[in-house]
Amino acid sequence: MDRDSALKLIDPIIRDVFENTSPDDKWTIPLGVVNYGPDEVIEVLDTLLSGNVTMGTKVARFEEMWAEHVGRKHAIMVNSGSSANLAAIGALSSPHYENGIRPGDEVITTSIPWSTTIAPIVQTGAIPVFVDVDPESFNLDPQLVRDAISPSTKAIMPVSLLGNPHGMDLIANIARDNNLFLIEDACEATGSSTNGTRIGTFGEIGTFSFYFSHHISTVEGGMVVTDDDLIADLVRSIRAHGWTRDSDFKSRELQHSSEIQSKWTFVETGYNLRPTEISGAFGIRQISKLDPIIEHRRETARIWSDALLKYNHLISVSTEQPGDRHSWFGYPMVVRPRAGFDRDELATFLKSKSIDVRPIIAGNILEHPVIKQWPHRVSGEVSEASWIHRNGLMIGNHEGITESGRTYFIESIEEFLSKCDHPSS
Ligand SMILES: Cc1ncc(COP(=O)(O)O)c(C=O)c1O
Repeated sequence: MDRDSALKLIDPIIRDVFENTSPDDKWTIPLGVVNYGPDEVIEVLDTLLSGNVTMGTKVARFEEMWAEHVGRKHAIMVNSGSSANLAAIGALSSPHYENGIRPGDEVITTSIPWSTTIAPIVQTGAIPVFVDVDPESFNLDPQLVRDAISPSTKAIMPVSLLGNPHGMDLIANIARDNNLFLIEDACEATGSSTNGTRIGTFGEIGTFSFYFSHHISTVEGGMVVTDDDLIADLVRSIRAHGWTRDSDFKSRELQHSSEIQSKWTFVETGYNLRPTEISGAFGIRQISKLDPIIEHRRETARIWSDALLKYNHLISVSTEQPGDRHSWFGYPMVVRPRAGFDRDELATFLKSKSIDVRPIIAGNILEHPVIKQWPHRVSGEVSEASWIHRNGLMIGNHEGITESGRTYFIESIEEFLSKCDHPSS
């Protein structure tokens, strides 16, 4: 039997399996759900049966689709969001990139990043400069970014935390006014935008993650986007061993030695960050699901935040601000001072209701043991990040949350908050 006939035969069986399998989760509201279906499985089977399993035409197709989706000239797929950050910083710090980031240069970043937002900065010999966050959006506070700029500052690397795009336009203005690179870690912010500009497209480079629990997934996977041809070439080279295939370095650099064959010429300090064709297969099927996923999350967050407004003196919750399209990587809450309960009590209660909780990403990175290994500077106080670290938690906000799940969360948390609510005392 040929491949097409086999796939046609198996297609209805796979659809039937998905229709008749319900998620086996111990949580009523889990942190994340399986968000792929028969289309992805059939596309992956097609890949496996083809024998073309290493990076190839499906990855290239997904890259084209992603570039068009975000409106950038180049999209280069890698095997994770962490690898996207590594390749992005690698490109800007390459000797091929004039006036790029050099050892000892400072990169201003947030105190609530992911570990692999920071690791590539350190690995390149640059110094991360940590700045406090805005207490409402959890994103870099623009005024504090301005205050942190020194003669050594070369770049700003913001994170749109949990998909909240708020303030990225202001950060981009600061980068432009001060002639700094802007490297957006948009790994939590797929699909979000502010004032009509997509997160990930404000600066020289944007990075995305398609890890399993993210808005859309390629199991593991990431993407670097840029309009700059040289950066794109460097990322392609760094992604694949530092060689020249897939890049214009072929024509730019290759004539220098007749001893080296073009396919095996190395011009960069590279890694192997390539995605597999299986991830490409996922990507080309997942991309059309992104907008409905985000609209579902926005609606859930709107309903929850409206319902919790009356407890604003006990917990603060996020709301989408005018001009923003928040993509809600999760639903965060921060316990207020003098609420009469602490974050751990709220977490224990929610877990008892079968609602899973976790910290707001990793909290304040300065409180993690790894900070001892990183040469760094802290600009001013990071009291908001510390407060969020101690008093914040988040629950899942995803397409697995149904009408009844939305109501269940409100009823559950109201049961807890109404007992703690003594406005007159
Ligand atoms: C802000 C941020 N940057 C980078 C990453 C790394 O992405 P990945 O897990 O795909 O390596 C994550 C992961 O969630 C993240 O939240």
